[in-house]
Amino acid sequence: MTRKPMMAGNWKMNMDHLEAIHLVQGLALDLEDNNFDSEKVEVVVCPPFTDIRSVQTLIESDNLPIAYGAQDVSVHDNGAFTGEISTAMLTKLGVTHVIVGHSERREYHGESDALVNEKARKVLAAEMTPIICCGEALEVRQAGKQVSHVVAQIKAAYEQINSEEALKTVIAYEPIWAIGTGEVATPEDAQEVCGAIRQCLSELYDQETADQIRVLYGGSVKSSNVADIMAQPDVDGALVGGAALKADEFGKIVRFA
Ligand code: PGA
Repeated sequence: MTRKPMMAGNWKMNMDHLEAIHLVQGLALDLEDNNFDSEKVEVVVCPPFTDIRSVQTLIESDNLPIAYGAQDVSVHDNGAFTGEISTAMLTKLGVTHVIVGHSERREYHGESDALVNEKARKVLAAEMTPIICCGEALEVRQAGKQVSHVVAQIKAAYEQINSEEALKTVIAYEPIWAIGTGEVATPEDAQEVCGAIRQCLSELYDQETADQIRVLYGGSVKSSNVADIMAQPDVDGALVGGAALKADEFGKIVRFA
């Protein structure tokens, strides 16, 4: 089973729309200069909402081999939800991917497993790809409960999602203690949980379905550690924060092979 690797940049609350244009141009140049083959790796950037229109215009006009996504979305269609952005607004801008349930949303915005599931279904209903995030806090890891914790998150996230829809999803395993800390999980740590996630998917659906769903690792991924992480059998890409803000560094991550 060959899963096409995905390298996704989560810019978080960084880059205004002018900086975004600069960064995407830089990334495109880096990829072009290095004969990047878009058949081999899927590249996604997830800028803040305010940058999306500018990124869309650039990617479409120059026909760049880069997809773009959002970092969150509302579960509502429209109406009195101040500050929220709907799936229809995103699809109108050509957005193809949406990160849901990032640990920062869970922590700072109180997003529950049930809400993450609702968002994932909303994104699927709009024919976009949810990048469903999961991952344990340091205390959970220290207690040795990372696998059961993440498996419970995945089971909750995939409620009422059938196998056909599940095939359109991507998972990002991001141990919270490794996000933005410089403390990357060892390749074995990443494999342990990503493998358990695939096992869980095979139980929720079947092995064939589980074998097609991409599971990314996230948490202090850099060009210097990406190859070792990618060498793990159940790691199919990376969700990259800080290192996605520099064109040449993210370009190197994309070209990990
Ligand atoms: P990091 O963030 O690469 O800066 O650790 C990853 C993420 O939160 O998606």
